[in-house]
Amino acid sequence: MTKPRIAIIIGTTRANRFGEKPAKWIHGIAAAREDMAVELIDLRDYPMPFFDEPATNAWVPSKNEVAKRWQKKVAEFDGYVFVTAEYNRGVPAALKNALDYAYPEWNRKPAAYVGYGSVGAARSIEHLRLICIELQMAPTRTGVHIQGSDFMAVWQQGKDINELSYLQPNVKAMLNELYWWARALMAARAAAT
Ligand SMILES: Cc1cc2nc3c(=O)[nH]c(=O)nc-3n(C[C@H](O)[C@H](O)[C@H](O)COP(=O)(O)O)c2cc1C
Repeated sequence: MTKPRIAIIIGTTRANRFGEKPAKWIHGIAAAREDMAVELIDLRDYPMPFFDEPATNAWVPSKNEVAKRWQKKVAEFDGYVFVTAEYNRGVPAALKNALDYAYPEWNRKPAAYVGYGSVGAARSIEHLRLICIELQMAPTRTGVHIQGSDFMAVWQQGKDINELSYLQPNVKAMLNELYWWARALMAARAAAT
């Protein structure tokens, strides 16, 4: 079986976002593993309008060219790491919009989560897990949460995320769970077709 292809998706797009820092950090760790092939995906490269299609692409093919390009990109992967903030206790709108713009491409694939913010985006990630269930994904258990004064130190004072050594066990568990589910569901999808 080929290595699972894992997308690390930067969930925010604003000009001075923090999101790409933890995304590049987790990408570096995942890329160092030999058991998965990882790619960093930036939603800025897929500037889709607020959802404006006749229906979900589960029912009606999308017309928007960027949406079609996005769906094709999502389809390339066997699993996903969403790197997300929390905007007013919820999932950032750009990420929710990108999730809505695909459907079969997400199905039967696992999702893992890296969050940052006052509570490490825990509330946003719980919401994201529910959204992933509707997308017929397999949300995994262990999240990585950069939170509280540690988030402030990394965000405002330039502290290196690698200095937060207590995150490492969760990073390892999260990637191991994602790997396990990605392999299991790759086999299951192959058997079903
Ligand atoms: C519109 C908005 C709403 C926010 N709401 C929350 C929130 O509910 N909880 C939280 O911990 N941080 C919240 N924050 C602060 C973010 O954690 C912080 O700005 C973070 O850097 C946002 O991610 P980004 O820089 O990748 O956009 C909010 C920020 C914005 C811009």
